[in-house]
Amino acid sequence: MADGDTKTRSKEQTSRFGEGFLTDIWYFAALSRDLKPGKLQRYEIMGEPVLLGRDRKGAAYAIRDICPHRAAPLSAGKLVSEADGGQSVECPYHGWRFRTDGVCAAIPSLVADQAMDVSKIRVRRFPVQESQGLVFIWMAADPRSEALPDHPPPVFPGVVGGAPKLVDGMDFDSHIDHAVVGLMDPAHGPYVHQQWWWRSSKSQHEKSKRFEPREAGFAMVRHEPSKNSRAYAILGGEPLTEITFRIPGLRWEHVTVGSRQVLSLTCLTPIHDRKTRITQIVWSDHPAFWLLKPFIAAGARAFLRQDGDMVNLQNEGLRYDPSLLWIDDADRQAKWYQQLKREWTASRREGRPFANPVEPAQLRWRS
Ligand code: FES
Ligand SMILES: [Fe+2]
Repeated sequence: MADGDTKTRSKEQTSRFGEGFLTDIWYFAALSRDLKPGKLQRYEIMGEPVLLGRDRKGAAYAIRDICPHRAAPLSAGKLVSEADGGQSVECPYHGWRFRTDGVCAAIPSLVADQAMDVSKIRVRRFPVQESQGLVFIWMAADPRSEALPDHPPPVFPGVVGGAPKLVDGMDFDSHIDHAVVGLMDPAHGPYVHQQWWWRSSKSQHEKSKRFEPREAGFAMVRHEPSKNSRAYAILGGEPLTEITFRIPGLRWEHVTVGSRQVLSLTCLTPIHDRKTRITQIVWSDHPAFWLLKPFIAAGARAFLRQDGDMVNLQNEGLRYDPSLLWIDDADRQAKWYQQLKREWTASRREGRPFANPVEPAQLRWRS
């Protein structure tokens, strides 16, 4: 296939809903605490096997988890020290060694007069950056690009109270697009999340919320939670909440009660085109988390399972690749997501600044 054909096809793929992925962007990969010095871990992100590790000096790194020699997973090898003080991953098959930036450091089977510049051999390296106890990985549009990311990973408000109070995760059997839209969908609550402590199932109220564009996304601006949401009651006082979405798949709810805060961050990471990892992380300095943590954890877990079960059910229909019918205002956020995706891809392709397509709006729906 000619190069031009490949390019055209990948362009179409990233703009069709439910296909392709955003690139030149940071994805949440792991919690910092998951990466232990010297330990090699295999992940899959956007269909790529990725060795994610931390060297013995504490730096996180990521390289493609396929040995360029004969494809053994490098993550099955070990981290060793080089004579120059550097560290490298030794392949378990024939011992080729790769520095944590992907450059080959040694091929042990070479004899002295077999001159070969091993540093010409490289494994793809993925830039990683740690921030707020989270590890982000940069997925470049061009796998051969050596360019460094041109913007830092996102910074979240309300990362307070030390270590996260809750961490939970699950893999959804769907493309990230469907997972994102499920995450921001305001109308499924009364049907999917019916537990008594969350809301009373019979009362559906008309909601009217203000939305604004935010960096690479949008926010439902700070407001009092709906009267038919009971879960906020455990926080006491008069909570105010703001919900923000940012591409590629980050959603966070920041609740303030006086000087106390709760941040509930949901990160979606595409494993491949039919599987998405969802990770939920909660930080808080609110006393409710001292006493009620087990209840809050069980509640959050129940929520996630209900969403996961619904995504799996939805797959029964999606298998037939039907067209989808999105209505205003309940599905407006889903439309914004698509516009954001398209604009991100176009702005990167055209080498111009990203222009947020979201306009401020008051959205109304019943739930
Ligand atoms: S497969 Fe890795 S060194 Fe041969
Ligand atoms: Fe949900």
